[in-house]
Amino acid sequence: MESNIKSKKFRAANLAMQFIEDGMCIGLGTGSTANEFILLLSLAINNGMNFKCVATSKKTEDYASSLGIPIFELDEIKALDITIDGADEFDEKMNLIKGGGGALLREKIVASVSKHYVIITDDSKKSINLGTFPLPIEIIRFSPKTTMLKIKLLLLDAGINVDIKLRKNDNGSVFTSDGGNFIVDCACDFIKDPAGIESLIRSVNGVVENGLFIGMADKIVVANENVIEIIEK
Ligand code: A5P
Repeated sequence: MESNIKSKKFRAANLAMQFIEDGMCIGLGTGSTANEFILLLSLAINNGMNFKCVATSKKTEDYASSLGIPIFELDEIKALDITIDGADEFDEKMNLIKGGGGALLREKIVASVSKHYVIITDDSKKSINLGTFPLPIEIIRFSPKTTMLKIKLLLLDAGINVDIKLRKNDNGSVFTSDGGNFIVDCACDFIKDPAGIESLIRSVNGVVENGLFIGMADKIVVANENVIEIIEK
């Protein structure tokens, strides 16, 4: 089962290599599917291609650098030709939930300056309504309980039942993002209006970013059991 999922991730990543051209500035996503792509990109470099890459997390930066991929600050590059990233959940309208790996803030910034934003994923992440995966929200460290209560009341008011948890590491310490913030995970019944909820959450004082990526992806590469589907705008 696990090797089957790994193979789907690899096949999606491999297909995304079709969108890569020599000399491109590329945003590198975070997570196990993005890592499959990063490995393939390093092989392309070994075969003589050149890229300038921006990482969406410290983990990705470390992994890509270890494979010899040149990593730049986003400020040095400014605009990216393409970003290839994974997702935790997607719907048919190409809305996404991201942030399972805690990198949503940088992921959204990098996506926002990319000419093409391609998601590589597999059919296990597909939903009719988003909300199967608990929605990650990055909040500042000051008064997390107050911010969590505000988010809870706002979602309840919007008709969404939610159970909010402050993300912890395996050792029980509070998880801290690369930006030094906390992350809360919101288990919702389902998110009826992702765009509306995204802007509602954004309005809460103390919220830095949320894991709803609305209308950002222009392609989602979905590896199924035997075929690969490309959902496009
Ligand atoms: C990272 O913060 C997330 O947005 C990832 O893109 C997401 O968790 C996908 O990870 P996998 O490819 O490991 O499922």
